[in-house]
Amino acid sequence: MTRKALIAGNWKMHLTVKEACTLANEVIKALPAERDDREVLIAPPFTALQAVGKTLTSSRVLLSGQNVCWEEKGPFTGEIAPGMLKDCGATHAIIGHSERRQIFHESDEMINNRVTGALKHGIRPVLCIGETLEEREAERTFAVLEAQVKAGLTGVTHEEMEAVVIAYEPVWAIGTGKTASKEQAQNAHAFIREVIIKLYEKTVAEKLRILYGGSVKPTNIDALMSQPDIDGALVGGAALDGVSFARIINFTV
Ligand code: PGA
Repeated sequence: MTRKALIAGNWKMHLTVKEACTLANEVIKALPAERDDREVLIAPPFTALQAVGKTLTSSRVLLSGQNVCWEEKGPFTGEIAPGMLKDCGATHAIIGHSERRQIFHESDEMINNRVTGALKHGIRPVLCIGETLEEREAERTFAVLEAQVKAGLTGVTHEEMEAVVIAYEPVWAIGTGKTASKEQAQNAHAFIREVIIKLYEKTVAEKLRILYGGSVKPTNIDALMSQPDIDGALVGGAALDGVSFARIINFTV
């Protein structure tokens, strides 16, 4: 089963509207029309979503929010509704990023609400999971991943799984320059796919795209993408540089 690769850029809390549009144009140019074996997704800060959405019109580059609320409207100061993302042209939302979990104390339950709410309102979740260094050293990596997958996907149906993407991002590799080795990443991805087989079935697991995130760079993307269970990348720092991200988009295996 061949899964279409997905390269996603998480711009985090960076870039003005103008800078975001300039970078979006560079991303459009970096994805050649004949490359239909891969998709590219960018997640600008909320302030730039609408303008970047306009920039991406009639391009193949997809737009994502960096988070999403489970409700469509109401008293949720600081939150963004799925319909608001769609209004800007977004199709996806990153959910459960470790920065949300660690700095803003988003719980598994809240992350699950975001996942099910996004699906209900037609936004595709990119559910992030990953162990801390402490958890890896205590040999708890698989237990943590299994718990995060189970909690994050509670109530998600077989059919809805078609719209879900999982991103494995070891917390110790994010923004640190320390990438998981391709073997470490492959082991984690294969394990996550096994968990999906247990929770759903083989066909669901075979279709599921699992991205690797954590210090993905032009120098390690090819090796990572050569692994059978690595279907793409969620890129932070290197996605802010047009040249680096272009090289990552154009990975070869
Ligand atoms: P990084 O971030 O590529 O800068 O490590 C990845 C992420 O947080 O998604």
